[in-house]
Amino acid sequence: MKSSMTAEQELPAQPGALGGRPGAGTTPVALMELTTGFWRFKVLAAGVELGLFTLLDRLGEADAARIGAELGLNARPVRMLLACCTSLDLLEREPDGHGAARYRNAPVAAEFLVEERPHYFGGFVRYSDRYGYPGWARLTEALRTDRPTTWDPDAQESAFVTADPAILEGFWGAMFTLSSFTAAALGEAYDFTRHRRLLDVGGGAGAFPVSLCRRHPHLRATVLDLPRVAAMARAKAAELGLSESIEAAEGDFLRDPELPAGHDVILLSMILHDWDEKTGRRLLEKCWAALPSGGAVVICELVLDDDESGPAPAALMGLNMLVETRAGHNWTYAEYADWLTAAGFGPMTVLPLDAAGANAALVARKP
Ligand SMILES: C[S@@+](CC[C@H](N)C(=O)[O-])C[C@H]1O[C@@H](n2cnc3c(N)ncnc32)[C@H](O)[C@@H]1O
Repeated sequence: MKSSMTAEQELPAQPGALGGRPGAGTTPVALMELTTGFWRFKVLAAGVELGLFTLLDRLGEADAARIGAELGLNARPVRMLLACCTSLDLLEREPDGHGAARYRNAPVAAEFLVEERPHYFGGFVRYSDRYGYPGWARLTEALRTDRPTTWDPDAQESAFVTADPAILEGFWGAMFTLSSFTAAALGEAYDFTRHRRLLDVGGGAGAFPVSLCRRHPHLRATVLDLPRVAAMARAKAAELGLSESIEAAEGDFLRDPELPAGHDVILLSMILHDWDEKTGRRLLEKCWAALPSGGAVVICELVLDDDESGPAPAALMGLNMLVETRAGHNWTYAEYADWLTAAGFGPMTVLPLDAAGANAALVARKP
């Protein structure tokens, strides 16, 4: 029994949608969930920052007193934090029969919130907490001014041109975190055995090449990115023993008139949503020019439905582009299809992806 209420006393299930149960009138319960959505995020962010999930991975399981002692938390806050993490399915709680309980990581925490795990998601959580959250706190300002709030567009050329070491480490670490799972999903959805050389345009620290070259040992990959970031990709490949398969090229896909040649597949993951339509179209033209006949371009994004009614992750990532970029947008399937055709590519194939960073891979070939 979860509570001492009888079945008769229990409240009816509340609707998840804002419209309420048919015939029962609306209630503000769903609004309460929306309003306090940030409470849930901050529980996750605090758990990651405190190292709760990594601790429980090391201990296997522990009671609240041990967890509090390890994390340096008093009994009251640790009890609250553990109750929240359990209610949000981040932890599992096993009563010990004497009024106390032992806690262990739930599967999602065990796989994604323990440091050093292959698909560790904590980097993205930390980055969102440190930079995204304060930027989103000024969302109305971003809506009114049509300007980003996570960086100063009067002082910086773009979000990516920065010398701030915290951002350099935080952002690209976060992207690696977010994209390593998307890359695995792409490897399942698209057959790279037909390709030999991959160019990952704006590839960051190289999450996609790392995953895809491990999956396909015949594949060679080049990460093209700004000099500081290319250095990170190079270091990451060396750290993971993949320097034979992955190289990093320094370049500027906006200013350089051409992309590096010699690749038969070009990946654009979370690139086109950072920029305006003109830049996106121009970049696809450069991809077309750099590919041989039969070569493919692969766009990985959270793509917005053509009727712009969702899905919510794509719509919200689009709004995140308002907060984080000068002119980015999460574009629709129809827009990408149109840009690809205009650049000279053949028909666009949609491969659905079930990943945090992309809901689809859009593939088109150069005739
Ligand atoms: C949103 S991140 C995506 C990273 C990676 N593709 C992924 O999906 O994980 C955008 C990337 O584009 C790179 N970038 C931004 N402007 C660039 C430019 N002008 N030339 C080359 N790379 C650029 C950034 O450094 C960053 O790595």
